[in-house]
Amino acid sequence: MASESIRIFDTTLRDGEQAPGCSMTLREKLRVARALADLNVDIIEAGFPAASPGDFESVKAIADEDFGPVICGLARCNPEDIEKVYQAVRGAKRHRIHVFVATSAIHREHKLKMAKEEIIKSAVGAVKMAREYVDDVEFSPEDASRTELAYLAEVVTAAIEAGATTVNIPDTVGYTVPAEFDRLFRYLKDHVPGIDDICLSVHCHNDLGMAVANSLAAVHAGARQIECTINGIGERAGNCSLEEVVMAVKTREEFFGLRTGIETTRLYPTSRLVSSITGMHPPRNKAIVGENAFAHEAGIHQHGMLQHASTYEIMRPEDVGISKSNLVLGKHSGRHAFRDRVRELGFELDEFETNRAFQEFKKLADRKKDVYDGDIEAIIMNVDGTSSGPYQLAALEVQTHTDQDARASVRLVAEDGGEREASATGDGPVAAAVQALEQVTGVPLTLVNFELHSASVGEDAQGEVTVTVEHEGQSYRGNGASVDIVEAGCRACLEVMNRILRRRHRGIAAAVPPDPTRATI
Ligand code: KIV
Ligand code: ZN
Repeated sequence: MASESIRIFDTTLRDGEQAPGCSMTLREKLRVARALADLNVDIIEAGFPAASPGDFESVKAIADEDFGPVICGLARCNPEDIEKVYQAVRGAKRHRIHVFVATSAIHREHKLKMAKEEIIKSAVGAVKMAREYVDDVEFSPEDASRTELAYLAEVVTAAIEAGATTVNIPDTVGYTVPAEFDRLFRYLKDHVPGIDDICLSVHCHNDLGMAVANSLAAVHAGARQIECTINGIGERAGNCSLEEVVMAVKTREEFFGLRTGIETTRLYPTSRLVSSITGMHPPRNKAIVGENAFAHEAGIHQHGMLQHASTYEIMRPEDVGISKSNLVLGKHSGRHAFRDRVRELGFELDEFETNRAFQEFKKLADRKKDVYDGDIEAIIMNVDGTSSGPYQLAALEVQTHTDQDARASVRLVAEDGGEREASATGDGPVAAAVQALEQVTGVPLTLVNFELHSASVGEDAQGEVTVTVEHEGQSYRGNGASVDIVEAGCRACLEVMNRILRRRHRGIAAAVPPDPTRATI
């Protein structure tokens, strides 16, 4: 029997981006949206337009680009939020308004201070209003998994009668377990008139590590849309991981009788893109996209694998976009080979960025014998438009002593071609280098966090540094990479300084990520 299709609703840019440390700039969000379209997700939840002007602009920019998938925006059950979503998503040919209201007793009493009937009235009003704008309306009873079953069925029935075309059941706090969630979905199937005429959806958080298992239980009980994020990013312990749930449905197709439209060979590149942008790298043993996901160390496993791969391998690395050999390019590789590899890794660079990336690649290939995929990704993070001027790092020199302050000198090239130099001392080489950068750029930063990730393998691997810094009470995140980790840290801080200077130049006072005026759910 042919498998039935199931929709993949990606909320990396909404629920994922809401997580601390995962905020993205507009340009980064556009890159992720394009990658999600290449991955062939059915719906992109691009943001929560009423949360802040920055969120509105980014949802609108994604919708206006119209990459292909349905573009959805989130709204609370009030006219202002709904109107904002409509204005933000209407540029996309296919668009959706997603309204939500909490339904559990805990939320009713302590957060909303609303009675059961008032909540139903608010949900019905919101769905009806959204339906006046669009035909595609999703409704979510927040904290559904902790809502009394009979009341949940009542709310869902009312939302369907009001015109909801998708009803999403969230396990907002990651509390449920698979058998219980299966019961909940079967209960709704049995008690909600008209439920078979709409798309039933599932949205799980991972607080007890069961987001994927709970989503699959819901699917087994009849859900036909899964809400998930790349690398499972999201608030607290995150959301259901897209790559895991998609590969579970694919690998066990005979069990579920379902198929997604996901281009699974784009899973790994998309995962790398999101981790490079957010600086949140999946652990090595993360299913599907972790570095060890397809590594077989134990002798007995290796022996079995050599006899027949299926002895210990239930998926092939190439099915998820991991190339067998990720040793890609060297000193003699040409521009074409470089550009093709960049594209395969899921990056879309314009001509200017490709030229700059290629120059950096050539420099790196002189410093480092083997250039791996991870090195190329790190180069791209350094050269993409967000790291362009007004200042480029031309030279860095540091001196450290075990019993003295470190000293650093930097030389920067400004947009006008002029060079500026400064030297400073500090507790360590990074602190000294950042102080020297501050003298040239005039942008003081307080370093809050410094995270180092190895971009590839070997002693000469590049270090990918993600810094979190503060400037005038705002928090910013920057990325930089180099075979020298102090230089990588310097590049990450300079990226932030450049961003602040560019915004100042355009007369915009506040940074986009994160925005303290942003409403939270
Ligand atoms: O977790 C949740 O309940 C949500 C809803 C807004 C769908 O993210
Ligand atoms: Zn959520």
